[in-house]
Amino acid sequence: GESSSKGSFTSAMTLTQLRVPRVPQRYVLPPSQRPNSSLTLHPSTTLPIIDLSSLHHPSLRSQIIDEVRLACKEIGFFQVINHGISPSLMKDALDTATGFFNLPTEEKMLMVSDNVHQPVRYGTSLNHVNDEVHFWRDFIKHYSHPISKWIHLWPSNPPSYKEKMGNYAVAVQNLQKQLVEVVLESLGLNPNYLEKEFEKGSQVMAVNCYPACPQPELVLGMPPHSDYGSLTILLQSCPGLQLMDHDEKWLPVPKVEGSLIVQLGDQMEVLSNGLYKSVVHRATVSLDKERVSIASLHSLALEKKVRPAAELVDEQHPMSYKEFSFQDFLDFISRNDITKGRFIDTFK
Ligand code: SIN
Ligand code: FE2
Repeated sequence: GESSSKGSFTSAMTLTQLRVPRVPQRYVLPPSQRPNSSLTLHPSTTLPIIDLSSLHHPSLRSQIIDEVRLACKEIGFFQVINHGISPSLMKDALDTATGFFNLPTEEKMLMVSDNVHQPVRYGTSLNHVNDEVHFWRDFIKHYSHPISKWIHLWPSNPPSYKEKMGNYAVAVQNLQKQLVEVVLESLGLNPNYLEKEFEKGSQVMAVNCYPACPQPELVLGMPPHSDYGSLTILLQSCPGLQLMDHDEKWLPVPKVEGSLIVQLGDQMEVLSNGLYKSVVHRATVSLDKERVSIASLHSLALEKKVRPAAELVDEQHPMSYKEFSFQDFLDFISRNDITKGRFIDTFK
């Protein structure tokens, strides 16, 4: 029950305050899952960076759409620059997130929960109650859209948290709307396709802290997974994110100054009838540097049944996914081990 899970959390400590010379056993991954065993660096690989400055320019927009189509087909990931969110807004959000994780443990524990339906929830690892192996991560997750409905539940400390994270959340929600239009257009769909459903959809912000780690080669901050929503927009303080390419090689994502990372989620894969794939990713940690990331997870409404767009289904391209709602998906995830990879394949 609630009180016993809080109890085990307290004794496990939160990572941000844990200073140890060696990684405790509960974080040590089996050798096959450790980050260095499968990492191959391809010096020639360049991951797509898309400049959005001419997004609203009538004749230059189509160039951006082409770049997005290529990136979505090849890897389900791109970074955007000149996206309209100012560097100071991004820095303020990262700073106030860092301030939150630096608070005393007791203060953060006021928000601890292992209930995934809690609108504001602090935790460690993925789910500290269920995880067999723990991940090197503390996090706070909060519902963020519409912001007026949720912001009063967000942390009151640091005192600027609501304002700074709130400004960023609103800016990202607005960027997400434009990016969804671009992705839909790149599929040949009307940019307003499912507009109402996207508007009624959810925005959950996962604010993550990956403290410096004495043995980073033994642990992960986040296990390999794809995001279940439509799009994720990610801001990172320093590198650590890795993507899996078609050859199952891990590619580290470099930090591009001022950029935001865009990842396709499972709902977009289904909508595209498999033309686009959600990207499998994981977070690695560093020996000497704490990393903070803010993932804004956007999803169609909980009860909305997602199915391939009719326009993308024909005799050559039969419907390749079963219809399911985000709610079905969450139920499925809660009955299974989320660290086992791509769930979307079970809905084929
Ligand atoms: C995530 O997968 O949601 C977070 C990844 C990261 O921190 O880079
Ligand atoms: Fe993710």
